[in-house]
Amino acid sequence: MTATRVTPIHPFHVTDRLSESLKRSAAGRAAARLATRAVPTHWSFMFAEVALYSFIVVLVTGVFLSFFFDPSSTVVTYQGAYQPLSGIDMSRALDSTLHISFEVRGGLLIRQAHHWASLLLLAALAMHLLSMFFTGAFRRPRQLNWFVAFAVFALCLIAGWTGYALPDDMLSGTGLRIVHGVILGIPVIGTWLAFLVFGGQFPSQIIANFYPVHAIVVPLVIVALIGVYVALLISQRPAQFAGPGRSNDNVVGIPLLPRYAALSGGLFFLVFAVILLISATVTINPIWNYGPSSPGDASAGSQPDWYMGFLDGALRLVPPGWEFELFGQTVTVAVLAPLAVVGGFMAVVALYPFIEAWITGDRREHHILDRPRNAPTRTGIGVAGVIFYATLWGAASSDIVATQFRVSIEAVTLLYQVTLLIGPIAGFLIARQVALALQRRDRELVLHGVETGRIVRMPGGEYIEVHRPLDAYEQWRLVDFEEHAPLMLRPDAQGRITVSQWLRARLSRFFFEDRVRPVTRKELRRGRGVESNRDHLLL
Ligand code: HEM
Repeated sequence: MTATRVTPIHPFHVTDRLSESLKRSAAGRAAARLATRAVPTHWSFMFAEVALYSFIVVLVTGVFLSFFFDPSSTVVTYQGAYQPLSGIDMSRALDSTLHISFEVRGGLLIRQAHHWASLLLLAALAMHLLSMFFTGAFRRPRQLNWFVAFAVFALCLIAGWTGYALPDDMLSGTGLRIVHGVILGIPVIGTWLAFLVFGGQFPSQIIANFYPVHAIVVPLVIVALIGVYVALLISQRPAQFAGPGRSNDNVVGIPLLPRYAALSGGLFFLVFAVILLISATVTINPIWNYGPSSPGDASAGSQPDWYMGFLDGALRLVPPGWEFELFGQTVTVAVLAPLAVVGGFMAVVALYPFIEAWITGDRREHHILDRPRNAPTRTGIGVAGVIFYATLWGAASSDIVATQFRVSIEAVTLLYQVTLLIGPIAGFLIARQVALALQRRDRELVLHGVETGRIVRMPGGEYIEVHRPLDAYEQWRLVDFEEHAPLMLRPDAQGRITVSQWLRARLSRFFFEDRVRPVTRKELRRGRGVESNRDHLLL
């Protein structure tokens, strides 16, 4: 009899070996490292995710719309389902957008979702940039992150603005007419540039020209930039707020897989649900009420989407008569001045991390985020920037303010002009002082604890109020920040001081002259000693 050897075949043998070799591969090791990565949590970190998820909704709904939208300015007579516009001449673009709204099943919901998601996208991006700014998250090694995030914001502005123009209704036509006028107002090249962008006399081929920019070029560049941003995030250690056990050399947070991924996935569905809920219940851009584009008939109350308001406001605030003659040509400053002011503002925002690093000379890596109060000058600058933007933004509604409050448009414009000049300076000064005062209060709290309101008489007859020391967590949060000092002016070998050195030293003094020193270990020990002695006496 011959003995037969039976080799047991485990049903999962092949897959086990496959998964083992996958785990050992370079990709597998990288994935394992990523999976165990700690991700710090804070509510302000959610803005970037909300922006990403809104962008996904915009992409998906945009693809749906593109099946039905016709980007053509050819005039047709409307014969669709919306009776009040029946028999009216309009472009194919508007005709197809009305078709999407009234005849395509679910079309209106998707159109509204596209519009609401784009509004949320820009709001979330703006909040993300603001939180990055006020916490100093743009400092080394994240200067490029800021630049990329800002570029995404600027591109989303372009996408939103070109999208707003596509339906070719009265509002989009008014916006396009304004832009046409602005381009024409640029000296020397204005007329050619307008011809290039619009493809001929207004409105010409503008819808057909904008459509590929809106639906393909800009979204593709945004996707590429999001890729760069994610790659940067993976290659860097995540920034975190100060807290017990957190330092520049570690990361305290939850694991990327599965906890963070599950939370973030939940947030995606929440964002998606909220956008759909708003889109199903709140009308946005009811083009059927506005009718076809006819810029000459635009009425008071014609508003762009919220994020473009600041450009409209900048144009409205230029005083009348700002123009002059040069070589027989009229040069209108009314267009150049707002372009220069807004362009300059955007450039400063985009380059701020590099400007601040140059002024402060701070080339260190920062992984602990600042509390805004601990960087009073930066916080002041941020508040000034927000007031500047908000004033321009508010000025875009100057006609509504004038009609609602029954005041002259000139008075409202003057009010906004004054606010634009004084508001940012006042905002800067107040915010900086408030930040410094809050820092002093933190110092006081750390060294002397929280006032309890309990007054006790000491054996010697002295009355004191009992202070409760802060717990370790709170104390860590309040003391963990870096000290900065103004740069010293150092002449070179020839004893000279260059203009740039002088300027840098002046700006650095402006940044750090008024400052509150962080509590030192020595002070902390001394403070604790006093408190514990006092507690001992009182108990
Ligand atoms: C950051 C990206 C985008 C933003 C901010 C954006 C924003 C907008 C806005 C505000 C409108 C006007 C909506 C309305 O009629 O009320 C619009 C229209 C439109 N968008 Fe986008 N969009 C983006 C990307 C896309 C993409 C990727 C596509 C297609 C693949 C697309 C296709 C369209 C089409 C076809 C319209 C015209 C139809 C309509 O107005 O309803 N969009 N977009």
